[in-house]
Order: sequence, then structure tokens, then C-alpha cells
Amino acid sequence: MNKKALISGLIFFLALFAGQAHAQSEGSRLSNKTALVTGAASGNGKAIATLFAREKAKVVLVDINKSELEKVVASLSEQGFDVTGIEADVTKEADIQKMVDQTLAKYGRLDILVNNAGIFDELMPVGEVSDDLWYKIMETNLNAPMRAIRKVIPIFEKQGGGVIVNTASIAGLTGARGGGAAYVASKHGLIGLTKNVAFNYKEKNIRCNAVAPGRVETNLRANSERLAGSKSARDRSIENWKDIENKVTEGYITNMRKCSPDEIAKVVLFLASDEASFVNGSVFVADGGWTSY
Ligand SMILES: NC(=O)c1ccc[n+]([C@@H]2O[C@H](COP(=O)([O-])OP(=O)(O)OC[C@H]3O[C@@H](n4cnc5c(N)ncnc54)[C@H](O)[C@@H]3O)[C@@H](O)[C@H]2O)c1
Repeated sequence: MNKKALISGLIFFLALFAGQAHAQSEGSRLSNKTALVTGAASGNGKAIATLFAREKAKVVLVDINKSELEKVVASLSEQGFDVTGIEADVTKEADIQKMVDQTLAKYGRLDILVNNAGIFDELMPVGEVSDDLWYKIMETNLNAPMRAIRKVIPIFEKQGGGVIVNTASIAGLTGARGGGAAYVASKHGLIGLTKNVAFNYKEKNIRCNAVAPGRVETNLRANSERLAGSKSARDRSIENWKDIENKVTEGYITNMRKCSPDEIAKVVLFLASDEASFVNGSVFVADGGWTSY
């Protein structure tokens, strides 16, 4: 081998080694952690679970949609990640118990809980909202996170700490542009819950934060229609619907774009990782500047 070929070979292997070292340093932010992500078969939850797996967490993916869940889990498993799927309806207390108990049975610990499963109400104003839709939204978006947190707190206390990330929304910070009465109230409630948990358990090395996305390219509207009848609720002829929609969409003017679920997952990864060790009780807005005006 001549000198030139030797030098270029050396450079190639050095570049390869540097690249691998870089990938390793980027890909081990959740080493030795076990994470549970709800609503992980689609949208934000799927992106969060995937990124967590890439960062070397053992990930438990929970969803009510069995077939989609199986597809996501199979694809991640094929890529060599240590993941487990659990079909569960987070609005059922028994399923909350099951998802956490099965996680502990399989991995022996739980370090990160991401309460992400959620449904939307298609901007339904309070004068039109049915009790059924209101309860479904509250059960999924607010009561389920409370029950999951209540279940993991003693586990975190015993382990000496843990992290909770709740997927809220800019609807938890604003009045109408991000949802209808039930959705907005549920996300405001979730942000309040986040802060209350953060304050009460800060001495136990338990952190609880929320991410508040703007608009994200996901299947939220279609899934909500299927799970809670949100769209059909909207489609019922509401006399003043057009006025309400026009009023609400005024708030869209300052929204630059929808983001991809991966952009939300990166924020959640930060909040879940040790890099956010001093971040507790915060609401991390990820909306491209929509609400900054
Ligand atoms: N898409 C957006 O623009 C947006 C904006 C802000 C916040 N969010 C929030 O992001 C979170 C995830 O929603 P997404 O946009 O990815 O929607 P999505 O519909 O794509 O994903 C939500 C997942 O949650 C699951 N799910 C719903 N109810 C469930 C239940 N009872 N038990 C178990 N799983 C259940 C669904 O099957 C689905 O797989 C929600 O909390 C939503 O409110 C979304």
C-alpha cells in the first residue's frame, strides 16, 4: 500500500471512530432508565417512545389502539430496541394499575412516566358540550395523568426519585385558540397538577414538568373522533358555530406552522433526562412562537 492510500485509510477509520463516538454520546441520555409512555401508538407519544429508545431507555409503550401499538412495538423491536407494548385504556383505574405493575414485573423499576395520551374536542364551546364529551376529555386528559402519577409516586419514593412529563398544550395556557371548553379546561388542570406534584415531591428527588405544544402533525382529530365522537359533536348543527369558529381561528394568525412530533419529543427528552435536573414544575412551551405575541 502506498503512503497516500495509507493516510486516506487512516483518515477514514478516524472519521468512522469519531462518528461512532459522537453517535454514542448522543444516544445514551437515558441509559439504565425505564420509561413508560402513554398514547405511544401515534403522534407525539410514538415520537417520544422512539427517541427514548434511541437514547437507550427501556421503553414501555401504552395505548388503547392495539393494532397500531403492535405495529410500533414490532418496528422498534426489529431495530433492536428494548421495548414492550401494553394495551391499556388510561381512563380505567385497573388499566393504570396494570401498566405500571407489568412494567415493574418486566424491568424491576420505573424511572420516567410520560402522561401523553389525550383526546381533542374540536373547539366545542361550553354552551354546546355534552356531559359525555366533557367527561371523556377530562377522564383522558386530566384524571388519567392524576391516577398514573398517584400510582408511581410511592414507587419513585422507594427508588429515591423519578421523573414525570405531562403532555399539556398551549390550550393549557390560553383561552380558546387551542381547543374547546373541555380540552382547554383539561389542559389548564393538567398544568396545575404538574406544578402541585412538582412542589409537593421536590424533596423526594421527583421532578414533574409539562410540555405545551402548539399545533403538531398527528392523528389527534381522527383518533378523537373515533374515541370520543368529537367530530360528530362538532358536526351537529350548532346555530352559532361559524361565529365561534371564526372567533377562535383569529388566534391562528400568529401560528407559523404545525411542527412534527419529533420536535416535541426532543423537548420531552430534555425534561426527562438528567440535563433538566433543576427543572421542576415548569411548562415548556414548544409552539414556534405562536403564543409569544
Ligand atoms: N396534535 C396537536 O396539535 C397537539 C397539540 C398540543 C398538545 N397535544 C397533545 O399531545 C398528546 C398526544 O396527542 P397526539 O396529537 O399525538 O394525538 P394522536 O391521536 O396522534 O395520539 C394520541 C394517542 O393516544 C391514544 N389514546 C387516546 N385515548 C387513550 C386512552 N384512553 N388510553 C390509552 N391511549 C389512548 C390514541 O390511541 C393515540 O394513539 C395529547 O395529550 C394531545 O392533547 C397535541
